[in-house]
Amino acid sequence: MRTRITTMLGIDHPIVQAGMSWASSSAALPAAVSNAGGLGVLAAGPLRPDDFEHVLGQLATATGRPYAVNIPLYRPGAADILDAMHARRVPVVIASQGSPKAHLARFRGIGAIWIQVVATLEHACKAADAGVDALVVVGAEAGGHPPASEVTTLVTVRRVLQEVSVPVIAGGGVADGWGIAALLALGADAVQLGTRFLLTEEATVHANYKAAVLAADVQDTALVGRRDLPIRGLRNAFARAVFDAERDQLPQEDYVALFKKSTLKQAALDGDVEWGKVELGQSAGLVSRIEPAAAVMARLVSELAQVTDRLRAMAG
Ligand SMILES: Cc1cc2nc3c(=O)[nH]c(=O)nc-3n(C[C@H](O)[C@H](O)[C@H](O)COP(=O)(O)O)c2cc1C
Repeated sequence: MRTRITTMLGIDHPIVQAGMSWASSSAALPAAVSNAGGLGVLAAGPLRPDDFEHVLGQLATATGRPYAVNIPLYRPGAADILDAMHARRVPVVIASQGSPKAHLARFRGIGAIWIQVVATLEHACKAADAGVDALVVVGAEAGGHPPASEVTTLVTVRRVLQEVSVPVIAGGGVADGWGIAALLALGADAVQLGTRFLLTEEATVHANYKAAVLAADVQDTALVGRRDLPIRGLRNAFARAVFDAERDQLPQEDYVALFKKSTLKQAALDGDVEWGKVELGQSAGLVSRIEPAAAVMARLVSELAQVTDRLRAMAG
């Protein structure tokens, strides 16, 4: 399949493995996805600059295919990571949670492609006006940071495509070829999957985390932390404590302290899936096994072909 994104990035399939802190912060998962013809994405957010440079070196050795580095711009260490990305001439930057404006000229200077992650029409228009090469657009179903408004992927992606002309990589709620075909049909040029790639052998999260994602059905996630920077995560003890705090109208300072005390690292590295932040999307309910990333990629590609054949047959 040829799209503006496969051509821009030089990949075989319009499939992007979403940057996921910890899960894709080592080389294994992005290398496997890139080697299978998709775009593997290294999540640099949790890494210190020297660790990042080490992992980037491993990734470049493990794949000769295109890959990207994701960086949430709001993170305290983001400036140092951006410097390291620039020095190492990272070919594709996928930035989230912040404005691309201050960084674009510098990264253009080394020929990098800059893709901005957005979850609202407003941020999509701002990023497109700033001159990014492409957008990742996610809706409410997504794991991580979906739109606080909870407008769905189906509606968010379509609405953004009414207003911008840059290529869109759409995501949030997709775990199989049917979902990929649906978002391509909406007008996206590629599709990003996060939660599906959490359930791979290469994803570097604790076994308890994978078991919790595997056990979750489509209704087992919630938007947690509406009074801070909300995440879609598992309805666990932490989420219930936050809901109680909202119901009891806890003072903002105490609320933020409660929300920040729990971390993704606590769940992803230590395996505390009751009190840690277990970020995952609604599509966890669509996945029933942990597999090698290459097997996931092969199945996604074959399902996508099945769906397009079906649609072609329906169209006569
Ligand atoms: C465990 C986890 C960690 C994530 N970490 C990041 C991150 O570091 N940077 C980022 O831009 N998005 C992050 N996200 C969001 C994903 O990149 C992606 O947008 C989302 O997973 C897509 O929705 P899906 O899970 O329904 O496929 C994370 C998502 C998950 C599930």
